[in-house]
Amino acid sequence: MSFGKKMMSWVDARFPATETYEYHMSKYYAPKNFNFWYFFGVLSMIVLVNQLVTGIWLTMMFNPSAEGAFASVEYIMRDVKGGWLIRYMHSTGASAFFVVVYLHMFRGMLYGSYKKPRELIWLIGMGIYLCLMAEGFFGYLLPWGNMSFWGAQVILNLPAAIPVIGDGLAEWVRGDYLISGITLNRFFALHVVAIPLVLVGLVFIHLVALHHVGSNNPDGVDIKKLKDKNGVPLDGVPFHPYYTVHDMVGIVVFFIIFFAVIFFFPEGGGFFLEKPNFEAANALKTPPHIAPVWYYTPFYAILRAVPDKLGGVIAMGGAIAMLFLLPWLDRSPVKSIRYKGILSKIALGIFVVSFLVLGYLGVAPATPVNTILGRIFTILYFLYFLLMPIYTSIETCKQPPERVTGGH
Ligand code: HEM
Repeated sequence: MSFGKKMMSWVDARFPATETYEYHMSKYYAPKNFNFWYFFGVLSMIVLVNQLVTGIWLTMMFNPSAEGAFASVEYIMRDVKGGWLIRYMHSTGASAFFVVVYLHMFRGMLYGSYKKPRELIWLIGMGIYLCLMAEGFFGYLLPWGNMSFWGAQVILNLPAAIPVIGDGLAEWVRGDYLISGITLNRFFALHVVAIPLVLVGLVFIHLVALHHVGSNNPDGVDIKKLKDKNGVPLDGVPFHPYYTVHDMVGIVVFFIIFFAVIFFFPEGGGFFLEKPNFEAANALKTPPHIAPVWYYTPFYAILRAVPDKLGGVIAMGGAIAMLFLLPWLDRSPVKSIRYKGILSKIALGIFVVSFLVLGYLGVAPATPVNTILGRIFTILYFLYFLLMPIYTSIETCKQPPERVTGGH
């Protein structure tokens, strides 16, 4: 036995190294028909690592105080060698995170990946999504720019809409009578330690749950039904080397686009880094349009669509809660949109349009026309979910094939 093999068997007798590697990589059989949409899980992991690594480096040079935060970000951008690159990789990385995660979630909706037996994968994913939203919100206050301050002002005032305890709750969250260095300090602790820990833990169990039941695929066909005499799914290929190599292509293309944006378009025209954030926080100077970063805007538009503040908060919470319920709202006998009926296809189309229009309305000024549009598309957004139990049970679906289609 070679030295390497001896070492491995020594380790394996004490720790399930080879067993774990085989279970998750070389003997994990993934459907052979994964398409474009299946790149976004691995890309989410790549962006997560990017955020963790660049975040650790930023923390080395960032000063989490009301007096020093803005200047320390300027110092990172101008004086620290390569500091601009690390900062842009992190700030543009936040937008990239939401791009890949939204596409990843949409894939789940397209192919019914949230349906039995993958409900828990979806719910854990939704937990991840909530953490991401919190992480982005806490991180946005840290540079202590004027939009950091006023954006946080709007959101931290939302608890005040709750009757009786609202004002006290808002003060408790801020830690002060107004947003101050104390708020900045706690946001720093949450952004740098607490939420990332939870996020990494959730991603871990997301994958444990996925590998326990196996991946879905664009046909929504269960590949575990048909196996060869060795118990290997006929339509499966070992994750390593087939998908490790395949995913490299997606990762390289992603990095080309990601760095092109960082080098040539790092602020995303005011969408990734908003213009008022190039000025330090100023409690006496409200920016003319307070708008959240693009990835929150669909929900912000829903918040604004309801005239009553508490009603708006409930609608916004409800819009996110709907996504949690998806596995139970979809009564279709098939998983993939390829075999669902016309009603599901139209409904999904309406959902996509509503989400995009609401996303636009969230950054647009609240003119009377925009307010009406906001209300219409909020209703359409909710109807997609609320009517789902009906249209998925009455429509006629196509018979899905026995074996997956496509793949090599
Ligand atoms: C940090 C964020 C996330 C990471 C790193 C991540 C990672 C992954 C990976 C690597 C896979 C397997 C590869 C693939 O199917 O693309 C996967 C599958 C899946 N993820 Fe995520 N995920 C994240 C967020 C989410 C969110 C927010 C949701 C939904 C709310 C979600 C729902 C799912 C579902 C349903 C599957 C199974 C898909 C299938 O088999 O068709 N994930 N995830």
